[in-house]
Amino acid sequence: MRAGVFDSGIGGVSVLKSLLDARLFEEIVYYGDTARVPYGTKDKETIIQYSLEALEFFKSQNIDILILACNTVSAYALDILKQRVSFPIIGVIEAGVLALQNTAMDKNAQILVIATQATTQSQIYPNALHKLGYKHITALATSLFVPFVEEGIYDGEFLQECLKHYFSKLQTTPQFIILGCTHYPFIAKAISQYFNHQCTLIHSGNAIVEQLKKECALTPTFANTTLKFFSSQNNQTLEKEAYRLLKRQD
Ligand code: DGL
Repeated sequence: MRAGVFDSGIGGVSVLKSLLDARLFEEIVYYGDTARVPYGTKDKETIIQYSLEALEFFKSQNIDILILACNTVSAYALDILKQRVSFPIIGVIEAGVLALQNTAMDKNAQILVIATQATTQSQIYPNALHKLGYKHITALATSLFVPFVEEGIYDGEFLQECLKHYFSKLQTTPQFIILGCTHYPFIAKAISQYFNHQCTLIHSGNAIVEQLKKECALTPTFANTTLKFFSSQNNQTLEKEAYRLLKRQD
């Protein structure tokens, strides 16, 4: 079984990590559109156009399934991409919602969804959560976290200032935070610390594994997964950084 994993940049590696731990695939082809990251500040048409171009790349890779390890792409292009190819395509948003549902039993819980500007504007998370009966949802665009992670900045004063910039506006401390951008798990420690470790952080990586096991009947089979990295610029930089992040213990 050969899977494709797509993100605008390095963020999808947080999902890749969960996929590797689950040993579901013999080979994974990762593609990061590093020449054009971030996607989260772009408009809908541009995000769809870039996603279609990435799909062209994956068409030549002989994959059995494509995982959109990007919330922004999942929010705007999942349905469109699905219509273009015969292999299955799975996004991260459903998995993120599922992960929240499995963790937050109380429908009155205070939930904060942080994501890129585009994902936030799509309202995709609040709509799904409201449907499930959750009542207190705050959606906050935190697009600047993406360049931090792309730069390899996962802690420190500069990031602290950025956290303060966004989170000081909040009226209450959330109980659950959905990391609605695949870049964010790499700064999860700093986010958790900002809230004095009082919030439960949710990310879609592990939930997507559960979804794959259920929907595609995949089982942990492969002790070793062959990894191939591609990007729209500086391939070696992406590959080196990806291996560094995969080794990191969070
Ligand atoms: N990692 C992506 C996401 O989950 C997008 C980051 C970006 O390119 O702005 O939304």
